[in-house]
Amino acid sequence: MNAHFEAKAASNIAFLKYWGKRDGPQQWPANDSFSMTLNALCSTTRAQRNQVGDHRFIFEGQLLTRSDKRFAKTFRQLDHLAEALEVQGALDIESENNFPTGAGIASSASGLAALTLAAVAAWYDTDCWDTLRERGLSRERLAHLARMGSGSAGRSVFGGYVLWKAGDSPEQQSIEPFYPAEHWSLCDSVVLFSTSEKGLGSTEAHAHAWTSPLFRPRLAGLPERLNSMKDAVRERQWDRLGPLLETEALEMHAVIMTATPSHQYLNTAALDFLGELRAARLRGEHSAYFTIDAGPNIHVIYPNEDRERVRNWLNSKYPGSVLHDGVGAGPSLRRL
Ligand code: DP6
Repeated sequence: MNAHFEAKAASNIAFLKYWGKRDGPQQWPANDSFSMTLNALCSTTRAQRNQVGDHRFIFEGQLLTRSDKRFAKTFRQLDHLAEALEVQGALDIESENNFPTGAGIASSASGLAALTLAAVAAWYDTDCWDTLRERGLSRERLAHLARMGSGSAGRSVFGGYVLWKAGDSPEQQSIEPFYPAEHWSLCDSVVLFSTSEKGLGSTEAHAHAWTSPLFRPRLAGLPERLNSMKDAVRERQWDRLGPLLETEALEMHAVIMTATPSHQYLNTAALDFLGELRAARLRGEHSAYFTIDAGPNIHVIYPNEDRERVRNWLNSKYPGSVLHDGVGAGPSLRRL
């Protein structure tokens, strides 16, 4: 009987967004990005070698085939891993998310990170990070393998605050931990404005970024914003980081809305919420700021010290539609 392995990887929320690629097939981003790995919102994936000849993938109880477009990334990633690692043998994979899939909570980040780790564990027959490292699979190498499945997944291979640097060529990219979770206990509450699958997937939307007249000016300004964000995180300066998060998210959405074809992820309820969050902050009711990924749900970020005030405010306004989380330590791997 082949051993069975389980990987758990949390989603991550980008403070500085990966938006636009210099090269799609090589997953070379247009700019550096910077994120916080979450703790509770995660994908759990189990993998075991099978004798069938092709991979079998069960997502939340449903057996999926290669022709299912929603999970094309999964099968593509398994093929990519087998080729890159020169391993043979098909896998049985079972996976689930503990949050709505495809609704802008970066399910591809946690999903592809967990898939990569579980598949590697099954092929290498180990759940030991040191053994993997000795066999050439350092944490950074694993992050790069995950990035090939979905760019943001690379950052979920590390816990805490993570930097993905674009470098001067696809080969010079790096994914590295900036500070561990203990450095600064920031929280993220995701307010759900739609849990249905988003209309335009991020991979397709990345390709449109270059058509926006705002995209090149954005790229020119990002190094300075990244430095300011890094300083703010290093010094744990919430009053400095918060406004940067909002500017960054709004700029990415401005690029998306001014691209050809134009797209809008935010619905009316989400847009109204942004105004309400700001107004309540200005009235001194909480200290939270927002950021947004490619979807209609809003990530409300705040320091742990203000946790009670922010959560009470959110829960009273949006009972039942808020997922509370915070910075996490990174993925886990175990033999079942
Ligand atoms: C808005 O990682 O989903 O969440 O590499 O094509 O799979 P692919 O894209 P993906 O893009 C994520 C974009 C984002 C911002 C971010 O996480 O940095």
